[in-house]
Amino acid sequence: MAAKSKNTKKKASSNVLYIGMDLGTSRSAVVASSGKRDWVHSYVGWPRDFVARKHLGKDVLFGEEALANRLSVHLSRPLEQGVIRDGTVRDEDAVRELVHYLIEAAAPGDSTEVYAAVGVPAEALRVNKMAIRDAVKEYADRLMVVSEPFAIAYGIGVLNNALVIDIGAGTMDFCIMHGTMPTEDDQRTLTVAGDYIDRHLLDVLSEKYPNARFSEPLIRQAKEQGAFVGSGKNRVKVKVPVDGVTTELDIAPEMQRVCASIVPVMTEAMMDLISEYEPDFQDEVKQNIYLAGGGSQIHGLDKALVDALKDYGTLNVNVIDDPLYAGAEGALALAQDMPDEYWEDM
Ligand SMILES: Nc1ncnc2c1ncn2[C@@H]1O[C@H](COP(=O)(O)OP(=O)(O)OP(=O)(O)O)[C@@H](O)[C@H]1O
Ligand SMILES: [Mg+2]
Repeated sequence: MAAKSKNTKKKASSNVLYIGMDLGTSRSAVVASSGKRDWVHSYVGWPRDFVARKHLGKDVLFGEEALANRLSVHLSRPLEQGVIRDGTVRDEDAVRELVHYLIEAAAPGDSTEVYAAVGVPAEALRVNKMAIRDAVKEYADRLMVVSEPFAIAYGIGVLNNALVIDIGAGTMDFCIMHGTMPTEDDQRTLTVAGDYIDRHLLDVLSEKYPNARFSEPLIRQAKEQGAFVGSGKNRVKVKVPVDGVTTELDIAPEMQRVCASIVPVMTEAMMDLISEYEPDFQDEVKQNIYLAGGGSQIHGLDKALVDALKDYGTLNVNVIDDPLYAGAEGALALAQDMPDEYWEDM
């Protein structure tokens, strides 16, 4: 581990700012030991030319503002499936800009040092630590990269005989907790999550209404307002142009069907992980299942999982509070508790 001499094995001084960060495909969040918190849609945009630069008045735009000006900027959503996308320099720059934005939002002010714990999807740990390290090193003195579902579990205090499922945009991450640091074997990542639902819903609706023009942002918005499985809602309305005329459609049946399509994928992974667990404690794990991430907000999902797995025993599935900040809160808790040897000096 190459350490900067100024940090070598130094105990944290009182002027250290601890930061917990959740780098997500669709949303990234930060929580700091100072109490500051913020989040942003994971978009970065650079003005396309000098006209755009003059019109926008900025060198770089973030989140909704970048998306709203997508005709005047080169737009990047760099964390596809939770990893920094391969290849393009622009995506790596975008991650660096996002990290910078979030650290600025945490207002390091006159802190002498910044210690950042960054949560990424479990699978990304295998391939992407270097890229994240590169993005963070300019702005932080110490770094710890942790798996997102583990950060969430730690933050909500679920440490033993439990299963945490983080349903994000790019990935769905599973993590079994057994009273120690989870290893790779305790975790699974599937690429069936929010973006998958959006794409699938767009396909199904475009097929059913060939003359209607659906956009991805509209579909996502409709999902965030009306996602459900089971018999929760009977109407989910969207307004779309049909042959050029704005028309209201009820997409409840398609919404329910597409959202329900993730249930078998989830139950299979859940059973897999639980059946590999120490037999004497499997029943306890079944009582401690937690849904996190934006996808945990799909109405009726907890009940649908309980129903689908009723032959395997009675399950207790909880939806966590505050899914937007749970990852960053957990990363901050880890940052504040982790012993020295887990930190990497930058
Ligand atoms: N109320 C809701 N109902 C259903 N889905 C929702 C709701 N609110 C947000 N989502 C979806 O949750 C996803 C975003 O969740 P989250 O912020 O946890 O993901 P992320 O951390 O950016 O992604 P990842 O963890 O895959 O990198 C998006 O697909 C979003 O559309
Ligand atoms: Mg996430």
